[in-house]
Amino acid sequence: MKKNKSSKNWLKKQSRDPFFKQSKIQGFRSRSAFKLIEMNKKFKFLRKNINLLDLGSSPGGWSQVCRKEIIKGKILAVDLKRMEKINNVDFIEGNFLENDTYSKILFYFGNKIDVVLSDMAANTSGNKELDSFRTGELCLNAMNLSAKILSFDGVFLSKIFMGSIFQEIKEKANKYFKKVVIYKPLSSKKESKEIYIYCKGISKI
Ligand SMILES: C[S@@+](CC[C@H](N)C(=O)[O-])C[C@H]1O[C@@H](n2cnc3c(N)ncnc32)[C@H](O)[C@@H]1O
Repeated sequence: MKKNKSSKNWLKKQSRDPFFKQSKIQGFRSRSAFKLIEMNKKFKFLRKNINLLDLGSSPGGWSQVCRKEIIKGKILAVDLKRMEKINNVDFIEGNFLENDTYSKILFYFGNKIDVVLSDMAANTSGNKELDSFRTGELCLNAMNLSAKILSFDGVFLSKIFMGSIFQEIKEKANKYFKKVVIYKPLSSKKESKEIYIYCKGISKI
């Protein structure tokens, strides 16, 4: 009975959400697609001929947006959860934190790449501070990989949740990258602690 009521509330909320509606109309698999579209409008990092890694890709909204913009380059999507096929997007089902997945990513590109995206979010535990910490750790790990595989003027864009780990992420980003911007897209729900960190250009460490 209770569950029924909360799922009804959820449906009601979604039907009022313009981004949710638009994602259905435009055929995107997630409303998150609009966050990437908005951030790309602002920072202009998706170009025709680039190689890109999409971490935490399922169900695939961001990969769909990338595929529309990138005509020639390679796109690799990675997620713990299976992702329905998107034409010309390769997919690895695996845990990004495991060595095996990490090695597969390095092997797939074999060379420096242009963009690393991470929309990875840890499973929610009910404890907001813990969730923000775990997602922050995913961001820090993705940043380490980015420092290794990004080209000189490459871009790293990652989700974070505001919390105690935020300072550490910002400090590390400022050490690794020349330009760092913290940004909350309009399509990211106001009540959510979600924000994004955009980093460009590898610094000599
Ligand atoms: C918010 S969703 C991503 C939505 C996606 N950007 C889209 O537009 O469809 C976060 C994803 O991160 C994935 N994830 C969390 N931890 C992960 C890990 N350690 N390795 C790989 N994927 C992970 C989850 O499985 C989940 O699918």
